[in-house]
Order: sequence, then C-alpha cells, then structure tokens
Amino acid sequence: MRPDKILNLLKEEEKRQEETVNMVASENYPDMRILKAYSSIISNRYSEGYVGKRYYAGTKVVDKIEGIAVDKVKRLFGSEHANVQPHSGTQANMAVMMSILKPGDRILSMDLACGGHISHGNRLSIAANLFKTMHYGVDKKNGRIDYEDVRKKAIKFKPSLIIAGGSSYPRGIDFKKFRDICDETGAYLLCDIAHTAGLVCAGLHQNPCDFADFVTFTTHKSMKGPRGGVILCKDKYAKQIDRAVFPGTQGGSLNSNIAGKAICFEIAATGRFKRYIKRVIQNSRILCRLLKERGVNIVTNGSDTHIILISLENTNTNGHAVQEALEKAGIMSNKNLIPFDKGSPKKPSGIRIGTLGLTSRGFTKKDIHRLSEIISYAVKNPEDEDGMIKRKKIVTKICKKHPIYKRNNKKC
Ligand SMILES: Cc1ncc(COP(=O)(O)O)c(C=O)c1O
Repeated sequence: MRPDKILNLLKEEEKRQEETVNMVASENYPDMRILKAYSSIISNRYSEGYVGKRYYAGTKVVDKIEGIAVDKVKRLFGSEHANVQPHSGTQANMAVMMSILKPGDRILSMDLACGGHISHGNRLSIAANLFKTMHYGVDKKNGRIDYEDVRKKAIKFKPSLIIAGGSSYPRGIDFKKFRDICDETGAYLLCDIAHTAGLVCAGLHQNPCDFADFVTFTTHKSMKGPRGGVILCKDKYAKQIDRAVFPGTQGGSLNSNIAGKAICFEIAATGRFKRYIKRVIQNSRILCRLLKERGVNIVTNGSDTHIILISLENTNTNGHAVQEALEKAGIMSNKNLIPFDKGSPKKPSGIRIGTLGLTSRGFTKKDIHRLSEIISYAVKNPEDEDGMIKRKKIVTKICKKHPIYKRNNKKC
C-alpha cells in the first residue's frame, strides 16, 4: 500500500463530511486553527511529566503551551487545578477512580440505558474488574433523574464515589443535589460533563466546579475542540490526580492535542462561543418541537441541551434500522438505549441525535424544518430505501449551502 492511498481516503472522508449532516450528538467541527495545531510538528516531541518537571530535554515550548492550556481552562471553569493531559474522557475518568479508590471500593453511577457512560464503572469497563458498581436510573414517568432514588441507593450501597453525568441524558443535571447526597453519605463526587462542558462555559448549565471534588470532560463535543479529556479539581487533590494521569494511567502526553485544547479554551471564553452554544440549544428545542408535531416521541418530552433522544418504543422498528435509514438520506446519528429499554444495545429502542455540528455549520430554521421531515419519515418508514435516497438530494443541497470549513473557519 502506498501512503497516498491513506491521503486519498482522507480526501474521500472530507467529501463525505461536507456532503452529509452530522447529527451524532458527541461530535463537532473544531476551528481550523485547532485542526492545524493538532496535526502539527509539536506531536514529534516526547514530554513525559508536567510543566517544569519533564523527563526529556527540549520541552521549553511544550511547557509554554501546556501552561497556557492549564491557566485558560482553570479560568474558564473557575477551578483550582487542571490536568489537560488525559488522552480521552474515559482515561480522565479512570485516572480519577485510580486516584481515590482502592480495589473493591464502590461506585454509584447512572445506568447506561438511562443515559450513563461505560466508563462510569459499567460491567463492560475495565473499572468493573476493580470496583463494585451500582447504578441509579431515572423516573419511569418523566425520564428525569430521581434524586431521592439516588439518595436512597447511596445510603444503602455506601459508595466511595458517586458519578453525575452521562452521554445520552438530554436534561440539565442538578449537581448541588448530588453534592448534598455525597455530604450525607461521605462519598466523593465526580461530575462528568463530557457533553455539557461547552454549555457550562457559556453559563447555560450549572457549573459543577462549585460542588464537585472532581470534574472531567472531553474537549471534542460541545467544547468544539480537539479529541481529548480534562480533569479539574481542588488543589488538595492536585498531586494525586497528576500522578494518576502520568505515570499512573498514561505515558507521554499528546502535545498536539494539548495545543489544540489551549486554542479551544481561548475560543470558549468569547462572546461568540456563548452565542454559538445559545443557538445549539435553540436549534435543539426547535427540532424537538417539530419532531413532536410530526408524531415522534422524545424521551423526557424535550431537551435542555444539544442531545435529543428519540424513543421508538411504540413503533415496530428499532434504533439500528432508523440509523441505517437516516444514513441513506445523508444524516448521521446513532442507535441508543432508552430508559427501561426492552431491546438490546445492537437493536435498541432509541436514536440519539444532536445539534452541535449543524449549528457549527450555520443551519437555518428552514433547514432544521426539512431535517425534521426526513427524520420523522425515517422513524415511520425505515424500510423505504427509495424514499430515503430521494431525500438525500435535499440533504446534499442543504450541506452545499453550509460548507464546514470554507466559511466556518472564521465562525466559531
Ligand atoms: C459522559 C461521557 N463520559 C466519557 C466519555 C468518553 O469519552 P472518550 O470517548 O473520549 O473516551 C463520553 C463519550 O462519549 C461521555 O459521553
């Protein structure tokens, strides 16, 4: 194989991204300057250790970049300490667990089907080999976190760590209530805001730094940055967190991603970013309303964030079939479990969509209106291949109006 083959495949992927709508709720388009930083020569460097305390020579510039990233993210969230080295959200969560828990300790976290994440001690996670996990769920009637149920489970299970946050929970989370439960039961509180970090920066979601012992997030979702994770905590935990990241769970840091994170944090502090997040939420609300008007069921009957979870519970289809149908029309989404799902992870009863990417591209209300027609058609007629292919023409036309990188460069 010639290296050109991969470069050509990258071009093919660029074309695919330009011609399709990415409604995967965990993805976004970073600013071109971030992409540049993140594919730059700084990735040639090994820099094990931290600013001013490296195990390699020649890290003067790396130190400056990581120092800027740390200062900016601390200011952005009002946190005492930050570690910007985690390669991913999963590794950030693992490092927090390894920093405070001993094998056999207990974790209370949100059930996967109710919106939690595998890295929260789910049985499929490596953490499940070390720790015992109990999950809390949501209220069957409204799909929202039942804080009294969390409290009761915490009293009974006596966890050392409670995790708040998830990957398909569409509503805001009351971290203060979690803090109260942790104070009552003596547990540490980890708030995982992988999805909502950008909303927190924009002041449109409660800031967990006011309540949590540890906050983790990813930089590639609502933060609109490079792939990666971040841990925020109080100064009193700084040493143990830094040790748990390096050398505890990772080796050399990804300097190019940290350079991208520094730019991402700079952008996230601007009024322009705040306006972007406001539009993300507005678009999510508009899309929820339009889908409901077309008879589509939405878990929790709406959204406070960029995440919309469609329930297919009372239809004769499943998330896998609808995901495939939408892809035929040029719309990317992902099949997802819903609370109390009777299906399986491969054929769940939900579809998760989100408005981060389409808002980055500047989609208008009219465009969202058209998307709502296509999504509701796919939910009702997932087997109509011709109908979906016909609708792809509409999607391609909308995408052409909103290129990802030609104009978007300067946008956000
Ligand atoms: C709540 C939550 N935590 C952690 C992660 C893991 O992030 P990563 O894929 O970077 O490991 C995700 C990813 O979607 C997430 O939604």
